[in-house]
Amino acid sequence: MFSLPNNVTIIEVGPRDGLQNEKNEVSTEHKLEFIHALQASGIQEMEITSFVSPKWVPQMADAAAIVERAHKHGRQFVLTPNSKGVERALQVGAKSVAVFVGVSNSFNMKNINKTTAQSMAELKPLITNLKQQGYFVRACISTAFYCPYEGKIAEEDTLSLCKEFSSWGIDELNVADTIGMANPQESHTLFSLLLREIPDVLLTAHFHDTRKMGLANIYAALLAGVSRFDTSAGGLGGCPFAPGATGNVATEDVVNMLHTMGVQTGIDENLLCEAVAIISPFVSRPIDTGMFRLYQIQQQA
Ligand code: HMG
Ligand code: MG
Repeated sequence: MFSLPNNVTIIEVGPRDGLQNEKNEVSTEHKLEFIHALQASGIQEMEITSFVSPKWVPQMADAAAIVERAHKHGRQFVLTPNSKGVERALQVGAKSVAVFVGVSNSFNMKNINKTTAQSMAELKPLITNLKQQGYFVRACISTAFYCPYEGKIAEEDTLSLCKEFSSWGIDELNVADTIGMANPQESHTLFSLLLREIPDVLLTAHFHDTRKMGLANIYAALLAGVSRFDTSAGGLGGCPFAPGATGNVATEDVVNMLHTMGVQTGIDENLLCEAVAIISPFVSRPIDTGMFRLYQIQQQA
């Protein structure tokens, strides 16, 4: 038998990655209901919003209200790429910050209008400062496998960026297949390399499910030794600046896969599907994940 961990931590990114690309306007009230229902299902870590330019991403314009009004529960991340975002986040009491940068220069330019080197130069003093003040900081590494503009990304380039963050005292590296192009072999190879080379930092995998390889990629990463995964309830999500990318791998499908293999998550599958049912009427496309479909059939029976 393959060796799997007894427990896995799920970091729910639906309220942020899931809703940032949503065509419908989702009200702050409905976002908060979604967040609270996710908390009730047992999720302990969540990206609840992002502090980015409301001109670039209008869906996240209510970030301050979300942080102020969300019930304090577990570790709540806010995502931001720059000092203005960190300033806004700390003003309303955020305690855990996720920064993001692309390994690929072209993607970073499209996403935040800076080269990767410019972003890193801005992030270094920011992260040092946040760490000195005791904040939990995670770095989201976009286009760690493939870039929509540059194609395949060399493993050494992803490793080198991760090592740089690690040398600044970051708590967590969150390594992302932004456009959902990685296959399980690539997932296993990259995560094995990162765990071998950077053993002292929490390592999380973030898969978009464009080619429906998300579950297989998670399984491959599990075998490599990863035990933290970003997932999105309802499989919502995508980056507005990564053409072709669809949502993250669905939390309910990942949690079910893990539970059926005897891996614990602390999440109640039924309550999780109730959270999906809460947001479902307010998003522009039907939610059609495996476990949500089964939940709906059971509700109708
Ligand atoms: P810019 O236009 O180059 O920036 O945008 P600027 O510095 O010239 O500022 C323009 C305006 O934005 C100014 O306001 C700034 O104050 C304001 P104005 O003077 O025009 O009124 N501004 C901000 N406002 C609020 N919050 C901020 C902020 N920063 C500047 N933090 C900028 C540069 C970074 C702002 C813009 O490109 C941006 O907001 N990009 C965000 C893109 C984004 O959110 N992408 C999705 C998240 S990343 C992702 O999904 C990937 C991930 O899931 C992992 C994966 O899957 O790969 C994490
Ligand atoms: Mg993402």
